[in-house]
Amino acid sequence: MRLDNKVMRGVARAVLPATVRRIIKTGLALGVPPKFLPLRGGRRVRATVPMGDLGSIDPRWAGIYSPNYGDEEVHKFIHRQFLEDASTYVELYQNVEYWKYLVGRGLEQAEVGSPSPLVLDLGSGGGNSVFPLLDLIPRASIVASDLSLPLLKILKDYMEERYAERSFAVAQLNAEEIFFADSQFDLVVGRAILHHLFSPEKTLAECARVLKPGGSALFFEPFEAGHQVLALTLRSILERDRRRCGDEEPIEPAVVRFFEALCQDWEVRKGEDKSAPQYLQIDDKWLFTLDYFERVAREAGFREVAVSPIQLGPHLFSEKVDALLRIGLQMTAAVLPRWAFRCLTVADRAFTEEARRHLVFEGIVVLRKGKS
Ligand SMILES: C[S@@+](CC[C@H](N)C(=O)[O-])C[C@H]1O[C@@H](n2cnc3c(N)ncnc32)[C@H](O)[C@@H]1O
Repeated sequence: MRLDNKVMRGVARAVLPATVRRIIKTGLALGVPPKFLPLRGGRRVRATVPMGDLGSIDPRWAGIYSPNYGDEEVHKFIHRQFLEDASTYVELYQNVEYWKYLVGRGLEQAEVGSPSPLVLDLGSGGGNSVFPLLDLIPRASIVASDLSLPLLKILKDYMEERYAERSFAVAQLNAEEIFFADSQFDLVVGRAILHHLFSPEKTLAECARVLKPGGSALFFEPFEAGHQVLALTLRSILERDRRRCGDEEPIEPAVVRFFEALCQDWEVRKGEDKSAPQYLQIDDKWLFTLDYFERVAREAGFREVAVSPIQLGPHLFSEKVDALLRIGLQMTAAVLPRWAFRCLTVADRAFTEEARRHLVFEGIVVLRKGKS
């Protein structure tokens, strides 16, 4: 369902000067609806569908622009954690300082040429990449987008409070069908969005289309190699826990269940076919391979493809388990019996730094579109 013309007229009355309204009215009379996203500060992004401020339908969503998605489309992609539980999600996962460092690393590689670039952020959530972009590129105009209205509302309120003088817009957008016209953006950014999609290849093709010649896309995504080597280690730890002899300390039952769930989750996320019905219930659908990006990004029209690991230190596996326990159970790796922690440090020492570069857990993906 799209916004009808009545809603569009209400939106236009509220936000546009009379002369612009007259031009648009003429357009409507000619059957040409206005198709653009207005940014604070006057900049506009051309759209391929009519878009309106959802505030004219429901005051809770005022200031969020959308072609007005139906519930079914939204629920196909996102579930409770990003909808009803949006504020808990933001509390748990918001870490803007950490992401500022990583977005900064990505921007160095993406080499954005313009000093006042137009940036599209996909699956913005609570803003882990949006706020770093606003801080690191002071003259950027930013379109923050997501499918979740509750998350967009949290993000919009914060942007209006802290970045009122900046050029930005907040839009409800399905990342698999980017409704902007061709060749407008200097940079597209997505932090942990592609692995939620059924067809990230569609999104990459759309990114290539909406980027200007020479533009870049920057993603932060999880990869199979690091996760599966850790799964092998966790499975052998769980096996040893089951066969433990009398005087060895057991692993806490909650931690056993957590490790089993992680291994199961990573197993399901392998491979490229996401057509099975189970993926309709799952938010996290993918663990990527380096080859996937190399192949799909080039097919999408990108000329350069580079992936670099976010985690690379000598304690790769023990630090990852510590981070997972903190997020998942609000515990640390100190909860593990000494023998189990030692298994992780054995895995840490098994690889040279050179080999660890291929054991990516999370990677920074930089894609560059050719100049012509
Ligand atoms: C893991 S969160 C990341 C949020 C944010 N980028 C961050 O770094 O914290 C994934 C986000 O993608 C959004 N999302 C999932 N599927 C989507 C889709 N098809 N189109 C747009 N956003 C989507 C979710 O609502 C959620 O906000």
